[in-house]
Amino acid sequence: MAFEKQAVIEDLLSAEGLIHLDNAGAALMPRCVLETQIEHLRLEAALGGYESARQKHAEIEAVYESIARLINCRADEIAIVENATVGWMMAFHAIPFASGDRILTAEAEYASNYLAYLQLVRERGVVVETIPSTADGEVCVESLKSMLDDRVKLISVTHIPTNGGLINPVEEIGAVARANNILYLVDACQSAGQLPLDVETIQCDLLSATGRKFLRGPRGVGFLFVSRRILEDLHPPMIDLFAATWIDAEHYELRPDARRFENWENNYAAKLGFGRAIDYALDIGIDAIAAEVTRLAQKLRSMLAEQSGVTVHDIGKRKCGIVTFSIAGIAATEVESRLRQAGVNVSMSSPSSTLIDASCPNSCVPRYTTISWIRSWSMSRNWLQLSRTRAAIKLARLDILYRYGQHIAHLAGDRFQCIVVDGLHRRQWIDGADLNAAIDLAQNHVTGQHGADFRFHADCLMGHVRIAGAEDAVGIHIDVDFLFHRRLDVDLG
Ligand SMILES: Cc1ncc(COP(=O)(O)O)c(C=O)c1O
Repeated sequence: MAFEKQAVIEDLLSAEGLIHLDNAGAALMPRCVLETQIEHLRLEAALGGYESARQKHAEIEAVYESIARLINCRADEIAIVENATVGWMMAFHAIPFASGDRILTAEAEYASNYLAYLQLVRERGVVVETIPSTADGEVCVESLKSMLDDRVKLISVTHIPTNGGLINPVEEIGAVARANNILYLVDACQSAGQLPLDVETIQCDLLSATGRKFLRGPRGVGFLFVSRRILEDLHPPMIDLFAATWIDAEHYELRPDARRFENWENNYAAKLGFGRAIDYALDIGIDAIAAEVTRLAQKLRSMLAEQSGVTVHDIGKRKCGIVTFSIAGIAATEVESRLRQAGVNVSMSSPSSTLIDASCPNSCVPRYTTISWIRSWSMSRNWLQLSRTRAAIKLARLDILYRYGQHIAHLAGDRFQCIVVDGLHRRQWIDGADLNAAIDLAQNHVTGQHGADFRFHADCLMGHVRIAGAEDAVGIHIDVDFLFHRRLDVDLG
């Protein structure tokens, strides 16, 4: 099916003027996903929780089929769980590790997974080792091959790390794991919904993912894939009366399918919403989504790279839709909050999310251990959002980097203007042919003045700026939204 961008845009329910670039955190659900959940919650309120689950039995079962279609497996190889972490942990802690067993993982491994390795290092004496990365930043498959021996019990990697734009070569790693008969666990939390996933091609035994990120499902739901090749060998770390049948005073029997990794109580509204979100993505086509995500992320990266003081930190030969950048001299928390004030949602990622990668000494890729960075996702409404984001970043930089005064941008007739206010309350209007030109000119103006007469600094409080250094501090509201709304009308019209 062709990618109907306009239909996707119309399915968004986001607040007026909001740009949401945070699918790596939690995406905005399409209208039908919200409605599916509300409908089920209403049914629960009307009929009762158990009764409505019974009534929706077929639809609930269909969610397993949808996930199976998404990753090319059988429905009985799927457990639907609370989130990616629960899925991953259930799988990991089901593996019968013994002292001396080796776990091989990626440098850009997700913090929670690595913490679980460390827990088993402490409790069972396993050994965890990171596979070196290539110069481009992804797992080096040749190095992996050279690390293998009889003690390697598990190869466990994150497909798309939580930040850094990287896509790890999960298929090549899977070929090595399968050829050597080693268990293979893939964290697909950030890749599900963003890239095509096929467990037959990846050749993984276990794979976990979440609902709320690129699949645009509800929060609080995720899934675990457990290959039927290994299911019988895995005993879940926690079982209840759903996962197993109590036979007599001494015995129980585990379920024969992957649902042995589930437990009895469920958020059925979220589960049904999750199924709807997956169907929605499959209707668009994961290939089409991947192409659009890649295109827009690449565009955002080049826009960011044009900005002086902005560093894009993404690594990997192939890059995904997570765009990671920092601005020299400005804490990521501050950039995040300024962008939020300008109506652009992004989320901040700290080095401790992928600690090994963030502190890797040998990499040719610049790494930052002392600053945090911002990640965002760029498949949004359209090009306009990127241009707004660029403008917002410029505004944030003007505002924060130079710590000089304050400016307000607005549309005056056909022209864009920025007002620059210095510490003596003097205002100057800067005219530009478009928003970015106006901001650039304003920025040059500020830069030109900086260090001469104007050495005042601005403290930002709840969207208002107090300019210190003058007798009476003035409050100036930063309001770029009205400008963008007008722009939005023009461009979308
Ligand atoms: C790579 C990766 N794995 C796992 C998770 C955890 O997912 P969840 O919060 O759904 O458990 C995240 C969350 O950001 C992630 O980025």
